[in-house]
Amino acid sequence: MKNSFCCNNLETLLILVFGAIAIFLMSGPFADVQAADQTFLRGQTLFKKCVHCHTYKAGQNHRIGPNLYGMFGRKAGDVPDYDFSDAWKNADFIWTDETLDTYLLAPHKMIPNNRMPFNGFSRADDRRALIIYLRTIVQP
Ligand code: HEC
Repeated sequence: MKNSFCCNNLETLLILVFGAIAIFLMSGPFADVQAADQTFLRGQTLFKKCVHCHTYKAGQNHRIGPNLYGMFGRKAGDVPDYDFSDAWKNADFIWTDETLDTYLLAPHKMIPNNRMPFNGFSRADDRRALIIYLRTIVQP
């Protein structure tokens, strides 16, 4: 005799199919989106350590440090109207993910006599999160 609560073959099949779809959605694309969101939010939180000294939108005045708008692809220590210390005026590199990562690891090691009063982030995933976040807010 057929059990009316559970399960005839069609119900079992449907449960298996929807279960498989649900597992696929949770583990696949959505998991990636969630991880990307978390990285972005982590970067946003870390950037709070920078905003006291740095603006980041086009046309904003410099604070203690230079406005970071458009920094990727630009020469380091070369922002119009900002009076960098000699340490930066002599810097000869372009801002990329890699150079910023090196900088954020040890700002005073990369640029000796740098006036920027910040000691850097030892965790690689923190630096990565901040770079991803910065890329989205400082790009023209
Ligand atoms: C207490 C102030 C202060 C804080 C906090 C600070 N900075 Fe700076 N930053 C400066 C100053 C001042 C300079 C320029 C130093 C000089 O001329 O020697 C600078 C320079 C820079 C430069 C070089 C800009 C260019 O165009 O070459 C970058 C990039 C930078 N800071 C990023 C950051 C990031 C990212 C953070 C947060 C993790 C941060 N700074 C936190 C003050 C600060």
